[in-house]
Amino acid sequence: MKTILIIDDDPLIRKTLAAHFSSEEDYEITLAEDGREGLQKYEENSPDLVILDIRLPDINGLEVLRKIKEINEKAHIIIITAYDDMKTTVEAIKSGAFEYLVKPLDYVELDLTIDKAFQARGLENKLSYLVEEKLKEFTIDNIIGRSSQMREVFKLIGSVVNNRANVLIQGESGTGKELCAKAIHYNSHFKNEPFIVINCSAISDTLLESELFGHVKGAFTDAVYETKGKFEIAGKGTLFLDEVGDVSPNLQSKMLRVIESRDFMKVGGEKVLKTEARIIAATNQDLIALIKKEQFREDLYYRLKVVEINLPPLRERKEDIPELVAYLLEKINRELRKNVRKVPPQVMKALMNFPWKGNVRELENALTRAAILAKGDVVLEENLPLESGEKKLFPQRLVAIKEVESQYIQHVLKSVKGSKTQASQILQISRPTLDKKIKDYNISL
Ligand SMILES: Nc1ncnc2c1ncn2[C@@H]1O[C@H](COP(=O)(O)OP(=O)(O)OP(=O)(O)O)[C@@H](O)[C@H]1O
Ligand SMILES: [Mg+2]
Repeated sequence: MKTILIIDDDPLIRKTLAAHFSSEEDYEITLAEDGREGLQKYEENSPDLVILDIRLPDINGLEVLRKIKEINEKAHIIIITAYDDMKTTVEAIKSGAFEYLVKPLDYVELDLTIDKAFQARGLENKLSYLVEEKLKEFTIDNIIGRSSQMREVFKLIGSVVNNRANVLIQGESGTGKELCAKAIHYNSHFKNEPFIVINCSAISDTLLESELFGHVKGAFTDAVYETKGKFEIAGKGTLFLDEVGDVSPNLQSKMLRVIESRDFMKVGGEKVLKTEARIIAATNQDLIALIKKEQFREDLYYRLKVVEINLPPLRERKEDIPELVAYLLEKINRELRKNVRKVPPQVMKALMNFPWKGNVRELENALTRAAILAKGDVVLEENLPLESGEKKLFPQRLVAIKEVESQYIQHVLKSVKGSKTQASQILQISRPTLDKKIKDYNISL
């Protein structure tokens, strides 16, 4: 028999959850309607699992969570909340919540989470998300996003801030990899230690090696002085290995060694030095594909991705765009001393539908340009480089399919400089069909 304590002030939720679990025979349910009662029942019954509402009438749910953790560090608590904001997510996970579910509850997700929680109980709670308590205030306000994918990212950040696990951040260009790395560092206990960035793709192999490990005097022709490498300079802080997919095989082996053994030698040196830095690596490349092509070492990959954070492309989380636009405009206005704040609904729609191949960085650049060109306080569509996006492919007003077809045929013909043979191949229609459409739609070549 597994025991679950449900703490929620909403009688309807208590009733529904109790009914949901009563169909499962091996659960015994206890209900509490506020934080005080919840804590009391926790102490009396020591349930296997707690489902806890964040908004309670007497004590804040996060406080209840912390108190339960004081009673039993290994308690498994699933947070449910209507506040679907990242701060609560991060706080809850940081304080040791097992999972975070947003109202209205998805019962399939709830059941899966409960299964996972019960499985995890057996794992001697070595899991990284059970992090230390009494942490300092954690603000990651400069990372914007409420989409489910970003909530996942916030959870992962919360789970790694106060351990030293290596983190691998993957994502397309401009998705915020460096921003995340900084968020991890500057919210950790080691935030007063250095955060050192090294871009592994920008410099030659030899130079990179001496940048990473340092060199002794006379190690090579230009080595006039002895230098410290980034592994040493980072101290107990963070070494951010950006574009790690571009490291040469030779250096990959050397990196593997230092990551495994924590010791290294300067180029040309003989003394063994130790590094204590936390390693965060980032890449916009598909490392698995590189491993298959034998361009990236599989063992190094596994060493780097103790915790893996995948940043979603902006086009896959369009719902984050309005908030990002507001945030970025604030930032741009501050930098440019402008006051461009208004975004008409049709412009916002166009921004949301644009594919943003360069992700948040491209959005930021587009808004910067629009802010510079703006005469008043409005972002104008004509000042935004939205041309090649879906907007052009799909006109804003809804039209008959033949209008879209006609426009698309014209677009293809223009792209192949009027070659009907190539156009018909691309469109996968026969030449006579293409000719007929050109005639029907009155397309001029
Ligand atoms: N979620 C976000 N909220 C606010 N700003 C963001 C977000 N993601 C990215 N940015 C901003 O977008 C810009 C690009 O972010 P960043 O440099 O971290 O991306 P990156 O993934 O490292 O890109 P690249 O692969 O090109 O190096 C920065 O100005 C950053 O502040
Ligand atoms: Mg970057």
